[in-house]
Amino acid sequence: MSERPIRRIGVLTSGGDGPGMNAAIRAVVRSATTSGLECIGVLGGYDGLVNDRLRPLGTRDVSNIIQRGGTILRSARSEAFRTAEGRATAVRTLHNHGIDALVAIGGDGTFTGAHILFQEHGVRTIGLPGTIDNDLYGTDATIGYDTALNTAVEAIDRIRDTASSHDRLFFVEVMGRDTGHIALMCAVAAGAEYVLIPEERQSIDGLMDALMQASRAKSSQIVIVAEGDEEGGAFEIARKVKERTTAYDIRVSVLGHLQRGGAPTVNDRILASRTGVAAVEQLLAGTHDAMVGVVNGAIAVTPFEQAIGNQKPLQRDLLHVLKVLAS
Ligand code: F6P
Repeated sequence: MSERPIRRIGVLTSGGDGPGMNAAIRAVVRSATTSGLECIGVLGGYDGLVNDRLRPLGTRDVSNIIQRGGTILRSARSEAFRTAEGRATAVRTLHNHGIDALVAIGGDGTFTGAHILFQEHGVRTIGLPGTIDNDLYGTDATIGYDTALNTAVEAIDRIRDTASSHDRLFFVEVMGRDTGHIALMCAVAAGAEYVLIPEERQSIDGLMDALMQASRAKSSQIVIVAEGDEEGGAFEIARKVKERTTAYDIRVSVLGHLQRGGAPTVNDRILASRTGVAAVEQLLAGTHDAMVGVVNGAIAVTPFEQAIGNQKPLQRDLLHVLKVLAS
């Protein structure tokens, strides 16, 4: 397969959807067309390859989607694709449709699939970082992260109104899977009093100390909890705090999937557009089995193995900033 020149590419979105995925699809399709390639959209992630659900995508098929959340190609976490038989079927679909290379938009699960497709079957794959979690090494931000942050911070601002009107302590849980990127950024941007994230070893006693110190001066307090924190989710942490003290009027709010929807921010649209164009150009230049991201303002290509195998460093100075500003 890898000897053929690339004439037709496939594009899919897989894993959790995120704002900016449509902007990425648009960029891939239009970049491909500009380079004289045909483009085929795969529906429902890798499941679409296993079940032969594809449709041609031309320039006009991706009109008016740059501003839309979700993904017009739909997304899924495919069980069938986890099996060798499922992947062999997927590769037959690629052959049957004359697809020479595949652009996969998604997170670590998506890239694991794309990496295995290349390793097992020689399929030329390239990835765009599409996840709200920002947990991919090799790009400063992932597509969807900025929008999710802005959505979450707007929600936390609203919660602050109630917290300060009623002198309450709120635990607000945000997404991020097993990382705390969303939680830490939201905590600083929303002026929260404390953050609990999986990357930091924190105890309920430490949290209690911080709350007690702040409560001398403050009427309301907001603690941001990353869903992957090892002390448990926001409800569990609130329960542990209630066990230790009755000093607070405590409420819990889990922001959940509202963080995944909505129109992408400018930053996400630009990131999706840049990486989408670069991914097609990289494929044509012979790059594959790698993710295209942006590092320090410039396009950066990182092998899938590193993008999913290396841990993305947390912006640790923000923990200090939060502590200073929460006083
Ligand atoms: O990876 C994106 C994400 O939204 C995570 O933050 C979260 O843990 C997970 O997906 C939720 O997945 P689902 O939509 O399948 O419940």
